[in-house]
Amino acid sequence: MVSNPWPPSTGRITDTFIIMREAVLIVEEDQTVRHTLARALSGWGCPPLETATAADAIKSFDSERPAVVLLDMNLSGGSSCEVLREIKARRPDALVILLTDGVRTEEIMTALRSGASDFIRKPVDLEELEVRIRHAVETTDAPKDAAPAHRARAVKFGFEQIVGRSPAMQEMLRLARKVAESEVSSVLLQGESGTGKDLVAKAIHCATKRADHAFVAINCAALPPALIETELFGHEKGAFTDAKARKEGLLEQANGGTIFLDEISELDINLQAKLLRVLEEGCYRRVGGLKDVTFTARVLAASNRDLRAESAAGRFRPDLYYRLAVIQIDIPRLAERGGDVRLLAEHFVARIGRRDIRGLSPEAVCAFESYDWPGNVRELRNVVERALILEDGDLITTRYLTPEIVPNSEGGHPGRARASVLDDEATVSLPEDGVSLDEVETTLLRQALARSGGNQTHAAELLGMSRDKFRYRMKKLNNSPPHRRGPSERAH
Ligand SMILES: Nc1ncnc2c1ncn2[C@@H]1O[C@H](COP(=O)(O)OP(=O)(O)OP(=O)(O)O)[C@@H](O)[C@H]1O
Ligand SMILES: [Mg+2]
Repeated sequence: MVSNPWPPSTGRITDTFIIMREAVLIVEEDQTVRHTLARALSGWGCPPLETATAADAIKSFDSERPAVVLLDMNLSGGSSCEVLREIKARRPDALVILLTDGVRTEEIMTALRSGASDFIRKPVDLEELEVRIRHAVETTDAPKDAAPAHRARAVKFGFEQIVGRSPAMQEMLRLARKVAESEVSSVLLQGESGTGKDLVAKAIHCATKRADHAFVAINCAALPPALIETELFGHEKGAFTDAKARKEGLLEQANGGTIFLDEISELDINLQAKLLRVLEEGCYRRVGGLKDVTFTARVLAASNRDLRAESAAGRFRPDLYYRLAVIQIDIPRLAERGGDVRLLAEHFVARIGRRDIRGLSPEAVCAFESYDWPGNVRELRNVVERALILEDGDLITTRYLTPEIVPNSEGGHPGRARASVLDDEATVSLPEDGVSLDEVETTLLRQALARSGGNQTHAAELLGMSRDKFRYRMKKLNNSPPHRRGPSERAH
């Protein structure tokens, strides 16, 4: 059985890295593979250079000075080894990762001995490739190529990887770009789980001169309270029994760059006060320290909860909320983004890259566009990934989509079979003067809710829709009491 793409996985506790900006040269004859790799590289912030022949590869290597080369081991005429030799002769520190397909282990070993850094088998698993490139770049002793052209080109990739043309997304991106251009020191990113808060945070970081410094991400919900203070602020030698040496905190590591405080609503209340002090005074002290340390990172805080409501309910410090919310970026739910669902689905098909799948069938597009996507873009990506694994043909059809997404498919929506009011033409007919569909919908939603004694799950079943869809419609029609979607409510 294929695992349910929802609920989402929990994130890592902390994640500190410099966003990759290295130009990568792809030497690959197969155009589809080349394009897939290039799209993925762009998404990671690495400007791709594409070449299909040995001669072009060398030319491009000389003119563009890429930091990494992805070299297909099966170039025609056996020229791959020649390319490797030429590259290493020109720059012994160049990082060459081999793409192998049916290549004998012996040959791979020879290439590694000739200076290749690593190899990856085809079909290339893009996640693995990202890890390998990052590892190669981070562990090399070679001086980083600081060619300004590469930097200038890389900077634009941050926002470019965010797919979305709907007015709601354009408006959000306009604000995010303004924030990136400004010197504003703290920003609140708010949006449901899976809407792209991480992505927007990284894009903001990449679009500033801070991109040369670290992007430090901290998941406030996952850090154990006992550790978080020393993790954030660092400590002096002897601050406590085990403090054998001074330790740099995450705030210090982020200096000059960006600190991303994910799930800020979960930050311990005492630490909220300390964080506020850092933001207001621009300095802090290491645990056990007497000297102030200057803080120069930009704070991007993210929450999938309504932080204003949290602070009104006494669960979050209002003063910190007001400090953070001077600039607030609201990331829209996927269901509010119109045609973006299709764009995103096609983007994931291309990015995940199964060579024989061309796109989506019209029925799949229709099903995608009428679903509510409670797990937002992450859920959509998972659904596409799953369909790519299961589909036998060259299109994603509705066949392997879950009943949640295709309620009338075989197997149907979980729940009992419903009578169709449309069986009898006399039952439902359009009045002479027309009718407001919204009113009809409101009435039916209300009736279903009344009949089910206020039980939304049951009411949704009566109308043959998922609970999330029901809630969404209620909200849209301004009938629903304000509610917050918690993780326990999402599990079906
Ligand atoms: N507009 C977009 N274009 C392309 N990919 C997107 C977009 N929005 C989100 N994604 C992808 O969807 C997934 C979820 O996005 P992300 O992790 O940024 O969401 P999030 O809001 O941080 O979620 P959570 O609250 O659960 O942490 C990621 O794989 C991300 O790359
Ligand atoms: Mg996130």
